[in-house]
Amino acid sequence: MRPRRSCLAVPGSSLKMIDKARGLHADQVFLDLEDACAPLAKPGARKTIVAALNEGGWDGKARVVRVNDWTTEWTYRDVVEVVEGAGANLDCIMLPKVQTAEQVVTLDTLLSQIEKTMGYEVGRIGIEAQIENAKGLVNVDAIATASPRVETIIFGPADFMASINMKSLVVGEQPPGYDVGDAYHYILMRILMAARAVDVQAIDGPYLQIRDVDGFRRVAGRSAALGFDGKWVLHPGQIDAANETFSPRQEDYDHAENILDAYEWYTSEAGGKRGAAMLGDEMIDEASRKMALVISGKGRAAGMSRNDPWTPPEA
Ligand code: GLV
Ligand code: MG
Repeated sequence: MRPRRSCLAVPGSSLKMIDKARGLHADQVFLDLEDACAPLAKPGARKTIVAALNEGGWDGKARVVRVNDWTTEWTYRDVVEVVEGAGANLDCIMLPKVQTAEQVVTLDTLLSQIEKTMGYEVGRIGIEAQIENAKGLVNVDAIATASPRVETIIFGPADFMASINMKSLVVGEQPPGYDVGDAYHYILMRILMAARAVDVQAIDGPYLQIRDVDGFRRVAGRSAALGFDGKWVLHPGQIDAANETFSPRQEDYDHAENILDAYEWYTSEAGGKRGAAMLGDEMIDEASRKMALVISGKGRAAGMSRNDPWTPPEA
């Protein structure tokens, strides 16, 4: 899977911001035709996006375009123009405000037709599905399995808060008056379970107070702790915080690699074919190996390198 610790939102109508995004260290860039692009600017933005994708310079970043949702009049032209024009230089289409599995199937069908017409590999372009209202959340399991193209399920907190009438205007922070836990816990967990059940990534949405990097870290830290793979970033100042928050800590990465090496050795002939063994003061078994694989996978995807590797005890 592609790393998506930081998913940078860039208005598709701003050539200046698109050019700047090329040089930033976000894992993913998404060029937006939806809410960061005014209705009158959408037709021009489609052309700007096609040119920017074809120009290249996105080295290693996942290249994504967010189209408008299916209840608008813009979606089909967004998809046709962008994918016909730049499908070979595009990794995923992000579909906002997804409410039903059928909306994903419709996008899948349209993508397949364009891929066939243009001679692209059929099925290569992925789909990122944004959950932004109660109906989408209720249907999230079916949405996650609606097409093999689905690569991520994304929480869209701003639209979601509006759609459920949450009594707050500050995205990501707790609504005033709710003092008994995390008001977003259920939504985040629901999305995470739907994603994990079918092995797709779970991505947290934006934090709008872009000058408050500590606030970003706090909110990102919550979804990262649950198991989310990454979060949107709206400003260059949020990128390092996202990359750090969604990577393992160095000591956890080193520990995970040591568990994997030690467990492999202890279960081998030389190590005594043991299913449970001691690593320092800690007992490790097959479940420890599975947990370690998650942390080591995230660390390796983030390009981390390891300190103090474990070595087998002297014979
Ligand atoms: C993102 O699209 C959001 O609504 O939070
Ligand atoms: Mg939204």
